[in-house]
Amino acid sequence: MFYDKTAIVTGGESGIGAACAKALGAAGARVVLTYYHDQAAAEAVARSIGDTTRAIAVQADVGDESAVEHLFATAEAAFGPARMLVNSAGLNMSGVMLADMALAQFDRVVRSDLYGPFLTCRRFVRALEAKDQGGRIVNISSIHERAPRPGGVDYDAAKGGLAQLTATLALELAPRRIAVNGVAPGMILTPMNQSALDNPAERAAKEKAIPWGRAGQPEEVAALVTFLLSPAADYITGTTVVIDGALSLTVAQGA
Ligand SMILES: NC(=O)c1ccc[n+]([C@@H]2O[C@H](COP(=O)([O-])OP(=O)(O)OC[C@H]3O[C@@H](n4cnc5c(N)ncnc54)[C@H](O)[C@@H]3O)[C@@H](O)[C@H]2O)c1
Repeated sequence: MFYDKTAIVTGGESGIGAACAKALGAAGARVVLTYYHDQAAAEAVARSIGDTTRAIAVQADVGDESAVEHLFATAEAAFGPARMLVNSAGLNMSGVMLADMALAQFDRVVRSDLYGPFLTCRRFVRALEAKDQGGRIVNISSIHERAPRPGGVDYDAAKGGLAQLTATLALELAPRRIAVNGVAPGMILTPMNQSALDNPAERAAKEKAIPWGRAGQPEEVAALVTFLLSPAADYITGTTVVIDGALSLTVAQGA
């Protein structure tokens, strides 16, 4: 489907990012996937897609401007400018109330979950600007971009900001035919939900709260991301697609 176009997928060593990298690779894209700490996992994802002419893994802290520059320079040297970008790298909420939260904690999550997409989107767009080509961006947000939780001020503020970054950038880039969309998952069974994966009782209790009756799989998110990057989604830009088994609709019930 993607005919050798290049996709950069951040957070590609794990969870949703790994599933996206594999799905895009299977759909014909060349893939540059990033890892933060787990090089072996990232290399395994890359090799499951193909040899180094099809997929490479690059270390990058997405919240670090020079690391993002290195990522894109490496990707361009390998495969030329990327036409697709998926921002999946991110940290979860700390669970610490604002009154007790250190600035460093807030900064850590906002840097990964909001500065990261800012930096990668900016570099992605600049490279396409030089070539005057269209492209597509998907930012992995969360239902918590709208649904706040006590103890989630770091994550929820970052994802709320990401929603506006996505929408604003979509307006800026529409004349250049660069589509920008968000995907907002609910509970997906990845290492971000490791305690539910390890503890059947916890998982069952959480799944009971989901109208669809189960948590989602990373491959289901990857299928949506693949569609949003595909030619069939040409007229979709500036929106966030929720994928959560209707979990986010359950707020304010029974009151
Ligand atoms: N799993 C869920 O239930 C869920 C729900 C809603 C949204 N999300 C979002 O989906 C995205 C992917 O999460 P996941 O579930 O695959 O979790 P995950 O923990 O499996 O993957 C996240 C990856 O991002 C990497 N990362 C974190 N900070 C980084 C940084 N500064 N630079 C580079 N890499 C960094 C981590 O090392 C990890 O590999 C995240 O943005 C997350 O907020 C997940």
